[in-house]
Amino acid sequence: MTLRVIAIDGPAASGKSSTAGLVARRLGWAHLDSGALYRAVTLAVLDNLREQGAGSGTSWPPQQIVALAEDLPVRLVLVDDIYRPEVAGVDVAQAIRSERVTQRVSAVAAIPEVRHWVNVQQREAVLSHPRGVVVDGRDIGTVVFPDAPLKVFLTASPEERARRRLAERGGSRTPDPIEVGREADVLAARDRADSTRRVAPLKAAADAVVLDTTRLGLEEQVGQVVALARERLPG
Ligand code: DC
Repeated sequence: MTLRVIAIDGPAASGKSSTAGLVARRLGWAHLDSGALYRAVTLAVLDNLREQGAGSGTSWPPQQIVALAEDLPVRLVLVDDIYRPEVAGVDVAQAIRSERVTQRVSAVAAIPEVRHWVNVQQREAVLSHPRGVVVDGRDIGTVVFPDAPLKVFLTASPEERARRRLAERGGSRTPDPIEVGREADVLAARDRADSTRRVAPLKAAADAVVLDTTRLGLEEQVGQVVALARERLPG
């Protein structure tokens, strides 16, 4: 039986989550943002665990992180076909976007035990959904659902991604080039961390459709993914 899942991967601010959400809505499927789960685990860790070590080498014991995620619990809850992150029964969709979570999430997502735990949650969600799920992240097509019938890898230039990120934060449509350059550097550093880590690095699956969205509008990229989905997942 064909797995009812569409994998959308790509670097930070490539438009993965917006695209995945709209594709899911058009198909009548659910949307799961795997980054939100890494962020929810990070938030839980920052609020509940004491760091070991000092300075930039600080860390938390992997088993403690997983036990915490199980116990609180950190969960994805399906509401109107969107998997929303919850910590201890509280919706954290807003809280996980804070700067303090953003700064630490790459480190937490680099821990193999955390990745394993997050992957199990994603697979359970997809297998129990009656129609299908569009999942976005960094390793969905390569590691989490290597059998997905449709894998899309979204890219865009660092400057374009920086402009989108600044606009999301409510900045001007024509931001100061210095600000764009600074944000592009931050994104490039996160891409480097995500692409060079040992476990499940960010990369396109060999059989992914690569879509450069630098000059595409959101509507166009959604339309292209929906057309591919209808081709590959009829009915
Ligand atoms: O997409 P995002 O910015 O919300 O992702 C948060 C972090 O989680 C990012 O540093 C990469 C990591 N991540 C990951 O390693 N694997 C995924 N499937 C999704 C996100």
